[in-house]
Amino acid sequence: MVRLIDLPEWQALEVHYHQIRSLHLRELFAQDPGRAQRFRLEAAGWLLDYSKNRITQETLALLVELAKACGVEEARKQMFSGEKINRTEDRPALHVALRTPPGQPIYVDGQDVMPQVQQVLRQMADFAEKIRTGQWLGATGRPIRNIVNLGIGGSDLGPAMAYEALRPYTDPKLRLRFVSNIDGAHLASALEGLDPAETLFIVVSKTFTTLETLTNATTARRWLLTGLGGPELAENPQSLQARQITTRHFVAVSTQKEPVNQFGIDPKENMFEFWEWVGGRYSLPSAVGLSLMVAIGPEQFSHMLAGYHAMDQHFYSAPLHQNMPVILALLGIWYRNFFQAPTYAVIPYEQSLARLVAYLQQLDMESNGKATTQQGHPVEWSTGPIVWGDLGTNAQHAFFQLLHQGTHMVPCDFIGFAKPTWSVVREDYDRLFTGHHDRLIANLLAQTEALAFGKLVEEIRAEGVHERLVWHQTFPGNRPSNTLLAERLTPYSLGSLIALYEHKIFVQGVIWQINSFDQPGVELGKQLASRILPELEAPGEPPLSHDSSTNQLIRWYRQHRA
Ligand code: F6P
Repeated sequence: MVRLIDLPEWQALEVHYHQIRSLHLRELFAQDPGRAQRFRLEAAGWLLDYSKNRITQETLALLVELAKACGVEEARKQMFSGEKINRTEDRPALHVALRTPPGQPIYVDGQDVMPQVQQVLRQMADFAEKIRTGQWLGATGRPIRNIVNLGIGGSDLGPAMAYEALRPYTDPKLRLRFVSNIDGAHLASALEGLDPAETLFIVVSKTFTTLETLTNATTARRWLLTGLGGPELAENPQSLQARQITTRHFVAVSTQKEPVNQFGIDPKENMFEFWEWVGGRYSLPSAVGLSLMVAIGPEQFSHMLAGYHAMDQHFYSAPLHQNMPVILALLGIWYRNFFQAPTYAVIPYEQSLARLVAYLQQLDMESNGKATTQQGHPVEWSTGPIVWGDLGTNAQHAFFQLLHQGTHMVPCDFIGFAKPTWSVVREDYDRLFTGHHDRLIANLLAQTEALAFGKLVEEIRAEGVHERLVWHQTFPGNRPSNTLLAERLTPYSLGSLIALYEHKIFVQGVIWQINSFDQPGVELGKQLASRILPELEAPGEPPLSHDSSTNQLIRWYRQHRA
């Protein structure tokens, strides 16, 4: 495979970059009255205005040529047809199958996976309805009111983010909590105030070997059995009585039946399956979304899948130059590889999207934080950016100073909605919360304008500002951003937004010649932790053979732990 930087399309972009890098967005807008109209796209309920980027028509054409030369169209086809594009793990990355409507076969190793996808969705819907209607009874005969999702990474961030995002659509009678951290404080605070008789745990783990999740699940079971049977029963979780209780209060979501069974959850009755070809960070539309489905109900969950699917369809069929995920990907490449911007920020102007940045951090950085090509060579170009951000308007009063006047250029994605999310359920919203939403969106628009156009020295001087302060009050502008707007945050628009970022990240991985679907970088720390743990717990002074820093820290910890 030709090295990315040797492609003529890449080199053409380098030449072009040097030609236009000092062009200001002020000039670009002044020269082209049709710019905003030209650099906009609509797909799956979203409007993308990408005109406030440091690009010309030619930039876009050259970037699209690069995408073609890198085989984005072929890779897209391979992904949708179930080819094993996750080459290091020898499996497909077929998350699009999870949201494909019935009746369209998708094959993995010659087998149509759609019947199993549909069967698990039905099983999830059946379970969700039983919980929501109070038919699923706990061991003491009481209906379930509390659901605790135990999982980490992709087995937590998706459902936790989406639950927060879709709160107005959730059943107010049910209380959902999400526990991921192995720090006992997380589980302890989640269990506070819960009655074990009314609490159900959903243990979510693709591998069912993850230390954090299994530690939390074991403690949760001890809490449950202590509460419903006393400490003695808690010491015998595999006893018949304990298993009878556990079965009413624990279900599992996993690809692995054996460890689920070993934990004491019946894989036939209480396990929801997903498959190796669903990556953890792409798994929200699989059974990993079970807690979300319980909260919002199967119908709203299906609207979310429809939103995902609409963006999938757009990504699959739209030509590259009119393809929203492709355009976002190419703009990302433009800034990462030519402007050498190491980070980009996502700023949702929507309180319910409080967890979106954390979700996108895993999606993007675990996918494209790689330095080895598909062919096993070190990459010689920058790959995945650092993703960060926070909610508007809060972020304006925190880090926006740096965005406007700092020495870094940080491309931003601004996300907003025409209607406030909470007006869906609160009839008094418009009356009581008068003016909030317009103020919120005025701020979003103002920030994109300020970043792009700034305020130049002459304008400050013309305002009569004292010369001593003129440069302090200058805003250089020319700081790029995308604006993504949808009518309202709904299950549908959330689904299509996630799919938009998934496909963007995929396209970037293809161009960077890396595998976006494995995560070997998380393994070393896990291995070392399992070596260190017995050294922390050893009753006598253990022999230590780490480096002198780690040895010293282990000794200090042993001396000071309770
Ligand atoms: O540590 C990384 C990771 O493997 C993620 O990719 C994954 O989402 C998370 O851990 C949880 O893994 P599991 O679902 O197997 O518990």
